[in-house]
Amino acid sequence: MTRLQTAIPISIEWMDNHIKLLNQQALPHITEYIDLYTLQDVYEAITALKVRGAPAIGITAAFGLAMSAQNYEIDELEAFLVKLQKEKEYLNSSRPTAVNLSWALNRLINSIGNARSVNEAKTDLLHEAIQIQAEDEAMCRQIGENALLLLTPGDSVMTICNAGSIATAKYGTALAPFHLASERGKHFHVYACETRPVLQGARLTAWELQQSGVETTLITDNMAAHTMKTKKIKAVIVGADRIAANGDTANKIGTYGLALIAKSLQIPFYVAAPSSSFDLTLKNGDSIPIEERNLEEVTTLNGTQIAPEGIQVYNPAFDVTSSELITAIITEKGILYPSYTESIKNQLLRY
Ligand code: MRU
Repeated sequence: MTRLQTAIPISIEWMDNHIKLLNQQALPHITEYIDLYTLQDVYEAITALKVRGAPAIGITAAFGLAMSAQNYEIDELEAFLVKLQKEKEYLNSSRPTAVNLSWALNRLINSIGNARSVNEAKTDLLHEAIQIQAEDEAMCRQIGENALLLLTPGDSVMTICNAGSIATAKYGTALAPFHLASERGKHFHVYACETRPVLQGARLTAWELQQSGVETTLITDNMAAHTMKTKKIKAVIVGADRIAANGDTANKIGTYGLALIAKSLQIPFYVAAPSSSFDLTLKNGDSIPIEERNLEEVTTLNGTQIAPEGIQVYNPAFDVTSSELITAIITEKGILYPSYTESIKNQLLRY
């Protein structure tokens, strides 16, 4: 398939009866695509971070549920829906923070509302998953265009984690402007924070930006303040896993710290996210569920133990950046400015 050959890497492909997935755990040393055939394969790929990044998790789960449903040997629509709901809940429990997961799975369930037969429902589910992926690519491209209204090629910009093409259908959110600029022969200088504990910045963002020819400098997370102060960083841009109704944003652990540093140095701090990352059922970020992952992620580096056996470990995978630290939220629908409660209502919900 030629789509996988592009300079901007793509991580998820529907292969008519299974999912072809870029194994993000093997990057950057090994570029391998794995085949997922069952619901369990999909659940395991999400929990083991073979696919990660909020929109990519949602897209993979959508294909996973639609794929599994193709094999139900059930004739009654009602019984079909009961099994579908059960499998949806199972996939939905794979990771708690990114709202795109439940958003995509709910869309799938809603897509069969008018189905008159099990066969029709099976077709509707697949169409919806394909649609979610296509829409995500379009949204990310538009986020990139909108971000380019705030960022100027030639500038040095800092990011954390990987909110890139491989975390979405294509282009990414925070990395979309850099990919689009590259396509047009214009260039940014991206400073990528390595993103301990599982190094999405060092392993994935550094790899992805290299693939598409974006000038990239890798730093460790504790170099962020010094780098912002001394390397003429013009902006920080990050992705999001869940944005509450007041603009509070959950993203990869370390994002909140970057926002505090940026505020102190008067550097603009941007969040880039599609409308599927907003959770307007939450008034603010206090009730966003924060995933805690296993302690080995912290006590080991590349499989080598770096801390004494038995040490206590705290390993939250995300943090919440308060909306007052965010200069603007860049979505496919436009650029939102404070007060976010108002701009989200007026701009995001207008359509
Ligand atoms: O734990 P991860 O790698 O799934 O965390 C990913 C992030 O925090 C991303 O910034 C976010 O999901 C946005 S991806 C466009």
